Amino acid sequence: MAMKATFLVTLLVVVLVASQAEAQLSGLLGLLNIGGTVFCSATGNAITNATTPTPPFANALVQLTCGGNVISSALTNGSGVFSMVLNPLQFLLSNLLSNCNVVVASPLSSCNANLPSTGILQAPLQLVGTVIRGLLSIVTIVPGVFQLIGV
Ligand SMILES: *[C@@H]1O[C@H](CO)[C@@H](O)[C@H](O)[C@H]1NC(C)=O
Ligand SMILES: *[C@@H]1O[C@H](CO)[C@@H](O)[C@H](O)[C@H]1NC(C)=O
Repeated sequence: MAMKATFLVTLLVVVLVASQAEAQLSGLLGLLNIGGTVFCSATGNAITNATTPTPPFANALVQLTCGGNVISSALTNGSGVFSMVLNPLQFLLSNLLSNCNVVVASPLSSCNANLPSTGILQAPLQLVGTVIRGLLSIVTIVPGVFQLIGV
């Protein structure tokens, strides 16, 4: 009797897990990864063909803003690299791409005193693509070209 009950429970669990896996395969399990590099230059971008490599903007506060609201934030590391992970169930990709920006809240003067202390760097979002890793679909988004606005 006890064995029968155990078998039934096991069967139920297997069915539950299987239907969950199916739901995940249909795109329910995934993440949005927004990341890039901020440089310590007048535009926040790497200077192309410069004789010395453009230094990174380390410890910069990077924010994802949508319609004026800060949705997520991160700090750049010593290489100027930041990364934010969002739950795709909470965001519509097309909305993100059209309504949101990557904004650097730290003034440029904090990485180089010769750069402006006013204005903020802002870049639109660019979709790189989606990769599937096992049951996980990872959407990669990067900032486009930064611009210094509001100087
Ligand atoms: C950078 O250098 C490459 C190769 O020398 C050249 O083709 C390109 O036009 C240069 N770009 C700029 C922005 O000067
Ligand atoms: C910054 O993060 C990137 C990506 O994770 C990594 O490759 C790089 O080594 C990091 N740099 C430092 C100085 O931690």
